Amino acid sequence: MAFNLRGRSYLKIADFTQREMLFLLDLARDLKRAKYARAEQQALTGKNICLIFEKTSTRTRCAFEVAAYDQGANVTYLDPAGSQIGHKESMKDTARVLGRMFDAIEYRGSSQELVKELSDYSGVPVYNGLTDDWHPTQMLADMLTMMEHADKPRSQIAYAYVGDARNNMGNSLLILGAMMGCDVRIIAPKELQNEDNIQKMAQDIAAETGARITITDDVNAVDGVDFIHTDVWVSMGEPAEVWKDRIELLMPYQVNADLMAKANNANVKFMHCLPAFHNTETKVGQDIADKFGVTELEVTEEVFESPKNIAFEQAENRMHTIKAILVATLGA
Ligand code: CP
Ligand code: NVA
Repeated sequence: MAFNLRGRSYLKIADFTQREMLFLLDLARDLKRAKYARAEQQALTGKNICLIFEKTSTRTRCAFEVAAYDQGANVTYLDPAGSQIGHKESMKDTARVLGRMFDAIEYRGSSQELVKELSDYSGVPVYNGLTDDWHPTQMLADMLTMMEHADKPRSQIAYAYVGDARNNMGNSLLILGAMMGCDVRIIAPKELQNEDNIQKMAQDIAAETGARITITDDVNAVDGVDFIHTDVWVSMGEPAEVWKDRIELLMPYQVNADLMAKANNANVKFMHCLPAFHNTETKVGQDIADKFGVTELEVTEEVFESPKNIAFEQAENRMHTIKAILVATLGA
């Protein structure tokens, strides 16, 4: 397979076709092996990449930085308080400035419209490092991790996403599964299921790829899956006041030993884009425990600390897959 993705942006999952995503996954595997074999070749020497984070990050920022440095590129990090964007300068103006200095731009923020505007006016590849709607770079890492763990062809992989399905991760995992032809089950209370337009988009894609899509509020739908994904119950940018309702709505959807057992699969694995609330060792986790008396949220400590948890491999794969995107879209 050979694809020329030079100059392309990645703003939402469906910006790449299935075959282009498979190519990027192949390339990510090559780059991962080359790094472990100490045989990596640099394709991005002298490239300059701007990393804009209007929301905080550990994995996405580090993955972009390490991927860029491994490949010989330079990065400039703009933190949530460190730029003029939004308060003193519009995205349209910012884009026209940054496009003259950088070869590519990563952007994490709330608005999908703003990342699109950045792409429209900068004239360089733009990568969505998470918006309220989508988390596209995470999807390549999730798919690579599932393909590395599933002892079966990609189209036979079955996975569930359990929790707040209207968020960036719920939307992204639904569309990812549809595009990859998987058996994908979105399990969430009715109030937190994907918007109708996203559900329709998934069904339309599935009609082409042969994916099987289930969207339900019944946790028993995890029966037979290979992977159970979840995510935080309150996403970045949501007001703290929603915690109370969210805990009430989502506690029956907590990924605990009972839910994992409902998969009826001794090899079922747990996945999470991270960060995760599974104990009170974080400030937010402790605050929630003090206010609501619950010490574990979307996943229990028992499941998180078990060998079934492959979220740290998933986190490592952020770097290899982001590197594949950079090499494919910017490489010489
Ligand atoms: N999964 C993920 O995007 O993590 P960060 O918020 O730490 O970048
Ligand atoms: N849904 C989460 C994902 C974090 C990587 C959020 O937006 O906060």
